Amino acid sequence: MKIFLTGASGVMGRSSIDALHRAGHDVVGLARTDETARQIAAAGATASFGDIFDRPALIRGMQGCDAVANLATKVPVGSQALRPGSLRKIDRIRLHGSRVVAEAARRAGVGRIIQQSLSFVYADHGDDWIDEHSPVDVTRATEPVVVAEDNVKAFAADGGTSVSLRFGLITGDDPNTAWLFRRASAGRSIGLGDEDSWMHVVHPDDVGTAVVHALSAPGGVYNVGAEPVHRRDYVDTIALAAGRKAGGHFLPGWILRLGAEKLEILVRSQRVSSQLFSDRTGWHPSHPKLTPDWFDDLVRA
Ligand SMILES: NC(=O)c1ccc[n+]([C@@H]2O[C@H](COP(=O)([O-])OP(=O)(O)OC[C@H]3O[C@@H](n4cnc5c(N)ncnc54)[C@H](OP(=O)(O)O)[C@@H]3O)[C@@H](O)[C@H]2O)c1
Repeated sequence: MKIFLTGASGVMGRSSIDALHRAGHDVVGLARTDETARQIAAAGATASFGDIFDRPALIRGMQGCDAVANLATKVPVGSQALRPGSLRKIDRIRLHGSRVVAEAARRAGVGRIIQQSLSFVYADHGDDWIDEHSPVDVTRATEPVVVAEDNVKAFAADGGTSVSLRFGLITGDDPNTAWLFRRASAGRSIGLGDEDSWMHVVHPDDVGTAVVHALSAPGGVYNVGAEPVHRRDYVDTIALAAGRKAGGHFLPGWILRLGAEKLEILVRSQRVSSQLFSDRTGWHPSHPKLTPDWFDDLVRA
């Protein structure tokens, strides 16, 4: 198949290009700059110039494609998240960009959209398991994620197939984890929230294979990640990989007040199951459980 990717140069896009090529697919990647186009070409894909808000450019790039994976984001890295307006760009990509991509796909005659989404939307469920029927908690921080899912559902209402993948927190060789890793290796705190609460994580390699499996998934919303991990274990695993034998430290609770809704979504207890996606598509994470080797590339860097 021929797949059009937005966000082709990001963490999710690079993983997806690799996995799609390994599965025998051709990839066209949206590029905003010459530098991004070079990266996409170096990965063996075809670059197509345009911005996610530029519908004619998207329609041109999507010609002849069987599916679109909308993976564009603008996630603030590390403490940038606390700056005023730090979510403005990503919110616009989710609220408006996802709609433009869906319209372009419809006009280009593409049959399937895969929308990257987030399991952070679920309400705090304590120790209870979360599946795709569990209630979400819509705040200013999560509303754009839910709207992006709704925008691609509208594509399905027009006869196409839409699949939203609610990924866990990407954890591995990526800018946000690298920021935490550097802090941990300097002995600084990286944990937020209750040590006994649950987190849903996903290795970057497993994002790409999930996109491949989403090409044959029945339309719908799916959770995608590894086994949930206690927050204390997540923090200790990063700290140990960063050379801190005594484990990691948690930030004081008042930081949460500083970050308000932006940080609140990061501390919800989310014991998320990805069983439905595995059952429906045969996808299994190649990194099923968080272990220190997830950080090998950061250790080597
Ligand atoms: N589920 C998760 O936990 C999750 C999900 C996503 C990202 N993240 C994290 O966020 C951090 C940053 O992610 P990242 O390195 O992938 O970079 P990023 O800055 O979030 O960009 C991601 C991709 O979106 C593209 N993009 C951004 N704005 C666009 C626009 N207006 N039109 C078209 N494309 C646009 C970027 O293209 P350009 O190259 O042109 O900028 C890039 O290809 C990483 O640590 C990552 O793990 C986490």
